[in-house]
Amino acid sequence: MDIYEALKKDHEEVNELLNELVSLKEDDDYRYILIDEIRNHLIPHARAEESIFYNALRAVNADKKVVFHGFQEHLEAETLLRTLQVMDKMNMDWKATAEKLRDAIAHHVQEEETEIFAEARAAFTAEEAEAMCEAFEQLKPKIEQEGFVKNTVDMVINMMPPRLADKIRTIGESRA
Ligand SMILES: [Fe+2]
Ligand SMILES: [Fe+2]
Repeated sequence: MDIYEALKKDHEEVNELLNELVSLKEDDDYRYILIDEIRNHLIPHARAEESIFYNALRAVNADKKVVFHGFQEHLEAETLLRTLQVMDKMNMDWKATAEKLRDAIAHHVQEEETEIFAEARAAFTAEEAEAMCEAFEQLKPKIEQEGFVKNTVDMVINMMPPRLADKIRTIGESRA
């Protein structure tokens, strides 16, 4: 399997979960389980994708604007997810937010699988795409165990220029 297939597989899974969520009635308690499940798919996917795939693209001669646009859409989707988690606990109308999240992710995935994949296919060999897949799958379960604060800090670190990001990671590791 290569990184493109791995990412696509995740995209389909999240899309199915979001469609299922949107189809629930307002008072269906199954939403608590689904929202948790969406979080457990979405956040590890996004962090590992940034760290392995986006940052490899930033290191080669790819269109940086396309990659940063991807980062920005991750941030937007995660803000919607947080809103959804809070609304849901307060028993507020959560459905409109769930629909917004589904649509935002559908839009992001569409751009990712066309524009970002095209940049990557031009930049990486088949072997590199396979190696990235392995690294991506190994990183995801580690991210899933981490809390909200670490997930958020990691997003910011992923967006930094590599030499700065490495420095901050080293500081973080020496404190851990
Ligand atoms: Fe993705
Ligand atoms: Fe993405």
